[in-house]
Amino acid sequence: MAEYWNFEPNYEQKAKRFFANIPKPEMILNYDIAVKDFVHSGNASAQIKLFLKRLGVDAKVLRRVAVTSYEAEINITAHSFGGTIVGNIFPEMIHIIFQDRGPGLKNIEEAMTPGFSTASDLVREMGFGAGLGLPNIKKNSDVMHIVSAENESTMLEILIYY
Ligand SMILES: Nc1ncnc2c1ncn2[C@@H]1O[C@H](COP(=O)(O)OP(=O)(O)OP(=O)(O)O)[C@@H](O)[C@H]1O
Ligand SMILES: [Mg+2]
Repeated sequence: MAEYWNFEPNYEQKAKRFFANIPKPEMILNYDIAVKDFVHSGNASAQIKLFLKRLGVDAKVLRRVAVTSYEAEINITAHSFGGTIVGNIFPEMIHIIFQDRGPGLKNIEEAMTPGFSTASDLVREMGFGAGLGLPNIKKNSDVMHIVSAENESTMLEILIYY
């Protein structure tokens, strides 16, 4: 499996301690993401955003959570065999894990390049495939971590501090 990490410098030390010993979240949100279900895709990210809004999280942070989780949710729908989203709610931040069932990324660095896309005709007809989802996730998260390989599953996790 190949691995990719991006840490925003302000949170690097804090986040590394978090990943070294992930504490128990206050609340866990769970969603199943079906294959090619563009009708419902986006619902999980909308619910995560709504949940944080009720907790009183700042609008700017809500926007970053919405962008990252929407892009990752659509990627599971568009490019994978389906998967799950787990939102771990902490008092200071949200940790979201996007796990799918394959087919995985051939080359993570290539997938991270703005404009790179293997989107099918169907996915492009749905209005996706600009190759900007992963770069947007990087831009809007404090930590981004991918573990994947060709013909394996993809695990993407992000941290966003409130
Ligand atoms: N969960 C995934 N499983 C397999 N491949 C993926 C997954 N997520 C992304 N990819 C691959 O990485 C590429 C880049 O993803 P990215 O989200 O940046 O762009 P896109 O989904 O093609 O287009 P956009 O997000 O702009 O609509 C995808 O085209 C696909 O090849
Ligand atoms: Mg995408």
